[in-house]
Amino acid sequence: MKPLLETLAGNAISPPPVWLMRQAGRYLPEYRALRAKAGSFLDFCLTPALAIEATLQPVRRFDLDAAIVFADILLIPHALGQRLQYVENEGPKLDPIRGVHDLAPLSDTRAAETLAPVLATLRGVRAALTEDTALIGFAGAPWTVATYMIEGEGGTGFEETRSLAFRDPGFFRALIDRLVEATAAYLIAQADAGAEALQLFDSWAGAVPAALFETAVIAPTTRIVQAVRARHPAVPIIGFPRGAGSHLRLYAELTGVDAVGVDHMTDLSSAAAQMPHGVAVQGNLDPILLRDGGEALAAEVGRIRADMTGLPFVFNLGHGVLPSTPPGHVAELVRLVRA
Ligand code: CP3
Repeated sequence: MKPLLETLAGNAISPPPVWLMRQAGRYLPEYRALRAKAGSFLDFCLTPALAIEATLQPVRRFDLDAAIVFADILLIPHALGQRLQYVENEGPKLDPIRGVHDLAPLSDTRAAETLAPVLATLRGVRAALTEDTALIGFAGAPWTVATYMIEGEGGTGFEETRSLAFRDPGFFRALIDRLVEATAAYLIAQADAGAEALQLFDSWAGAVPAALFETAVIAPTTRIVQAVRARHPAVPIIGFPRGAGSHLRLYAELTGVDAVGVDHMTDLSSAAAQMPHGVAVQGNLDPILLRDGGEALAAEVGRIRADMTGLPFVFNLGHGVLPSTPPGHVAELVRLVRA
């Protein structure tokens, strides 16, 4: 069995499998060269020949245990019909939606058609992988995608989203429901196309007010896990509720995910101790240590490896690879993990 899949099935293996969130991207010179040929970032994601190449670049260079399909969590709002642009040096910008009337134009049929190239990318990558490398599909979790749809951009205080969730719960629930359905359908299609594991990125779970954690994170994730599992019982699901902190145990117990991604703010051993039997943990090297390399990187990799010995564990970062990371540090990381 592929090392990643063996681990996600709940088995401890040594050395642990290793892959990195945002392993494709601007820190790689070959990515920057490909990106320059692609036109817009959306065109890049939705052109299988280019997306296949971007997916394979880090796998080839570093011999990682998994490929993650080159795409973006915001393809779902784009595909549903919300206007989206990636602005150089500023990030994604969307025409914000703020009420039930903004949901009416969104179309699931349109979404399926627009996302079809991602499925072609998955088929192409799967055909190119060696027998030890697993293919991961992914989507954003509803809360995180909803923050972009409502705010119109990322990484702010999420004031409008939090306010609307309390002020207009009917709209908030309707939006989350639309995202649960679109995301479950998309992940099922990814598994149909050859994804062997699926990750749900809830990058902004740490911004959810405690009173809403159940409605905004746990319930939607549970519904997606159940829908995907009904169609693909053998495809493991990794949940990454970044910043979930004190909610981590409940998240692992209630959602039914096979593995939980842990951020670098959270103690990995105590996170592992909170997992229900057989649930794997994934994480949680601080991306800044990977950027900096050297002694601090080696020491922290050693500590993580020692702490996780004997547990079902996937080596990863606590968040994505930073664009300023020297590629040589990633090669060194993989060597250290397997040493
Ligand atoms: O290698 C991989 O991990 C696969 C591809 C991937 C991308 N985005 C490509 C991308 C994945 C898994 C994502 C997930 C993603 N996208 C998340 C969740 C993970 C996280 O970082 O929290 C989020 C929040 C997004 C939304 C997004 N996409 C933002 C905020 C930005 C702009 C800021 C940034 O990091 O660049 C993007 C653009 C994006 N997505 C790039 C890449 C390679 C850079 C675009 C470019 O090359 O110009």
